[in-house]
Amino acid sequence: MTRSQGAKRKALSARRKAPCFPRLPLSALRFALCAGRLALPALRSLALLLLTVACSGLLINGCAKKEADQGAGQAKGKAKVFVMVPKGVHPYYEPCYEGFKDAAAKYGVKAEYRAAKAFEVPQQVEVIENLIARHVDGLAISALDDQGLAPVIEEATQAGIKVITFDAPAPSSRAMSYIGTMNEAAGYAGAEQLIKVVQGEGEVAVLQGGLGAPNLNDRYKGFERCLKEKAPNLRIVAREDEQGKIDLTVNKTEALLQAHPNLKAIFGVSAEVCPGAAAALKQQGKAGAIILAGFDDLPDTLAGIRSGVVNFCIAQRTYKMGWLSVEKLLDAIDGKALPKEIDTGVLVISKDNVDTYMQDMKKEFAK
Ligand code: BGC
Repeated sequence: MTRSQGAKRKALSARRKAPCFPRLPLSALRFALCAGRLALPALRSLALLLLTVACSGLLINGCAKKEADQGAGQAKGKAKVFVMVPKGVHPYYEPCYEGFKDAAAKYGVKAEYRAAKAFEVPQQVEVIENLIARHVDGLAISALDDQGLAPVIEEATQAGIKVITFDAPAPSSRAMSYIGTMNEAAGYAGAEQLIKVVQGEGEVAVLQGGLGAPNLNDRYKGFERCLKEKAPNLRIVAREDEQGKIDLTVNKTEALLQAHPNLKAIFGVSAEVCPGAAAALKQQGKAGAIILAGFDDLPDTLAGIRSGVVNFCIAQRTYKMGWLSVEKLLDAIDGKALPKEIDTGVLVISKDNVDTYMQDMKKEFAK
């Protein structure tokens, strides 16, 4: 970095307040309140559930608790600082950060979590810029966008910060590695399962939380390809963007039900779809009649599987993504070459394994 760049950055960081975007318990709270405002009875219970998660899940820390995650093995002040940067506030990232924090504790690293309020590229860029100004040691980013993040990842790299992506890659950026689901294959696997459930024909609508993220677009691509190859009579009649928001998911689901009276299935390529669409289906008395399935194992999705409103979900190994992020950032600091991609794998969760899969997944990691 040149001296003038350094001075510019200093001035910039002095002008900016220390980043203190809402952290996850608060985020879950907002998510919950948002749902509550919709005054749907089903949503109220969803809101309550999320509120419970918010209250009990005080596992995500940030500004207020900066020292708390200091690892045991390293003296204060010397520990490396690694920061997880999700796409934005969303309960999906809770287990990711749990894995990140547990690994950080094991290796004597200080873990932090910084989330922008909304899934919006300029906000995510600003979060990262603030972290560059603080000269943190490592960043694990779930990328909202590819091109939109490449310059700030370049800037971080130039500043000597190790950067990897987890959950959502930014393939054209200089991130050293991507740790997460192989998304096209996972979308394909989701379609294969759906084909079995709907017996290969009918109308399906897809809901997606943002149209810019490569991870979600790859899932959609895999899903679409599988239908073309294996079930041409199962037709995608709509693909809607709900921006990662549960209230918008509910609205979009209601609109889909109106516009497509013969809809046989709804498939979600992101985490809020099953909880949001389940609430709308229940409200309209269509739970179970329209097949609902999609990505991720948020608590309400699992509850939906147990009660029958959700048929299955594709669970990503979120805890593992967080854990490996710390290990790979440490490898990068040690000068080791990182693999371009690390596949963390997915699991199909249905009534058969909904109560057992989590224990099996966590067995891999000795705490
Ligand atoms: C995706 C994340 C996304 C989350 C919430 C998950 O399926 O992997 O990238 O942030 O859904 O939309």
